[in-house]
Amino acid sequence: MSSKRFKIKSLSFQDAIDSLQQDVVEGLFAYPRSLPPKYFYDDVGSKLFDQICSTQDYYPTRTEADLLNQYSAEIIELVNPKICTELGAGSSTKTEILLAMLCANNDTFTYQSIDVCKEVLIDSANRLLKKYNNLYIESVAGEYIPSIQVAPKYTNKTLYLFIGSSIGNFSEQDSIELLSEVANKMDEADYLLIGMDRVKDHEILERAYNDSDGVTAKFNLNVLNVLNSKLGTNFSLDNFTHKAIYNEQQQQIEMYLISICDQEIDFPTLGKKMALEEGERILTEVSRKYTKPDICSLLKKSDLEEVAHFEPANKFFSLVLAQKTL
Ligand code: AVI
Repeated sequence: MSSKRFKIKSLSFQDAIDSLQQDVVEGLFAYPRSLPPKYFYDDVGSKLFDQICSTQDYYPTRTEADLLNQYSAEIIELVNPKICTELGAGSSTKTEILLAMLCANNDTFTYQSIDVCKEVLIDSANRLLKKYNNLYIESVAGEYIPSIQVAPKYTNKTLYLFIGSSIGNFSEQDSIELLSEVANKMDEADYLLIGMDRVKDHEILERAYNDSDGVTAKFNLNVLNVLNSKLGTNFSLDNFTHKAIYNEQQQQIEMYLISICDQEIDFPTLGKKMALEEGERILTEVSRKYTKPDICSLLKKSDLEEVAHFEPANKFFSLVLAQKTL
């Protein structure tokens, strides 16, 4: 890899362990039991997520990729960015649709990628730098808000990217806080391109999160391996099953790990034990789904306004271009 074209900054590991311990105390030892979804994305979890994206049942990735293939040229013409800053970059597979055009249109191009998983940022930088020799990558491994705060802000026109509908994994309040932070970092000439999954038939939604290849189940269960390796807990993955349901009222997929027996888990670093009964559930993720008015209202509450809205004929997904409200 050309180190001249790649810089990476990792936010402190001790902070990460501290926040995991705090999240476990506040989430797993409370009722209803829950865990924040950010802990899915260790190296194994990030790879499993990539596999989910190519399953037949998980429609969001290919729907959004089709939209990007169809509208990237239009978006680039409208925005003409010199820098892209992406939250939740992951393997940057869909982003490459934009980056390929941006590298072709510019002498040099800077891509700032932010993700909780350092390994996935390094792997994708390796791949992209080999393919695009005028591309410069600055990565930050860490949570979104602290990472966006430390990512250098240049005066060049920036296109912020938050694709993949990852905004749906935040509560309404947290999504407003995060998007407001992005709006706060934006200049008048900057844009945000955000991907949001739409409300649809609950059978299509539930199939997407209970895929018939069982990859989402592996992804969900892997969070227990993350806890075992980071906190020395003794979760046995065989003692849990995965289930995702659509909560129509809340307009969200809820993903659970369900205990299949009575069991006791040790948390040595916390000096605690957790007793789980057969059938008890841990909520590991919500994935919120939006109507068009929901999208407008979320953007408005975050000091952003819609400039363009791209959707497929079946209205399964929205790619929205927004600017800071003046
Ligand atoms: C990352 N995020 C947008 C995915 C989603 O659809 O909410 C995470 C996911 N969980 C299970 N499948 C996909």
